[in-house]
Amino acid sequence: MIQRNKLSIAKLFTQTTAIVILLLLSFALGYYSRPSPPHLLQISQETTTPAAAASVSRIANLPTQLENFRVTTHCSTSPVPPHLVFPTILDRVFNGSSPFTKFPPRHLRSSLKQKRVKGWGSNGAVFENLIKRVKPRVIVEVGTFLGASALHMVNVTRKLGLQTQILCLDDFRGWPGFRDRFKDINMINGDVQLLAQFMQNVVYFNASGSVLPVPFSTGSGLEKLCEWGITADLIEIDAGHDFISAWGDINRAYRILKPGGVIFGHDYFTAADNRGVRRAVNLFAELNNLKIHTDGQHWVLATS
Ligand SMILES: C[S@@+](CC[C@H](N)C(=O)[O-])C[C@H]1O[C@@H](n2cnc3c(N)ncnc32)[C@H](O)[C@@H]1O
Repeated sequence: MIQRNKLSIAKLFTQTTAIVILLLLSFALGYYSRPSPPHLLQISQETTTPAAAASVSRIANLPTQLENFRVTTHCSTSPVPPHLVFPTILDRVFNGSSPFTKFPPRHLRSSLKQKRVKGWGSNGAVFENLIKRVKPRVIVEVGTFLGASALHMVNVTRKLGLQTQILCLDDFRGWPGFRDRFKDINMINGDVQLLAQFMQNVVYFNASGSVLPVPFSTGSGLEKLCEWGITADLIEIDAGHDFISAWGDINRAYRILKPGGVIFGHDYFTAADNRGVRRAVNLFAELNNLKIHTDGQHWVLATS
């Protein structure tokens, strides 16, 4: 009797265990085969397929997207010959007469120093190296300030016996706050006398026959030079050092570079370099299949 009871208890226990296991199994199966809640489904879609596809397409379309940053102004198809470059600028910008005539005017004399020159890397070997190599008839300097690098180029071209004309494109505003370090550059009624002091420096070094200011923003100035057919054998870029400025200046300046000419600029290897200049130069060189050379703190892109 006891034996029979033991057997039926064991049987009952095995049946109950089997039922419990079955129940657990079906619960687990149901849980794992349930549809995901909508928000989880959405997240997983966003982080996998469409997002990945979008990023691949972004990279693949990079050259097309850069089209938006292309400079599209119409440039003259007949370049102005070198001996007519200065007359063209005098005519287009200065009503046909030299801005150096009777300079400085009486009302500015007391606010100018006889000479006040200051630049950054403005006497680097790169200037002489490139001038010797290119023997430029026309140089365009993009970013002049007080004329340190422009006047150094005058010295080099004189030494080499070259007849070189240098256009200095700068709005001659400096940058916000620059007078903290240049308190001696006077301001008259809110107008900082940078252009006047630059011109005074040019007069002091007897260089008014080979240097001409083009006092506009680099963007509008370069576009106009292109439209007027002004081209240069050598172009120096040293204006705004953020990516957007450097990128715009390089792209615009490249359009007025003569075939075989050289474009170069400062701040590839200085504290300001990776603020934007180096990135702009690298991207430009890559997109145009140009090889970057460096010379001191300067980058150099040659077209031949
Ligand atoms: C670093 S300084 C040039 C120094 C000069 N190359 C030298 O070595 O003696 C930069 C000059 O670029 C000019 N500049 C900056 N951004 C400009 C812009 N968008 N348009 C015109 N000039 C600009 C400033 O007025 C300033 O005189």
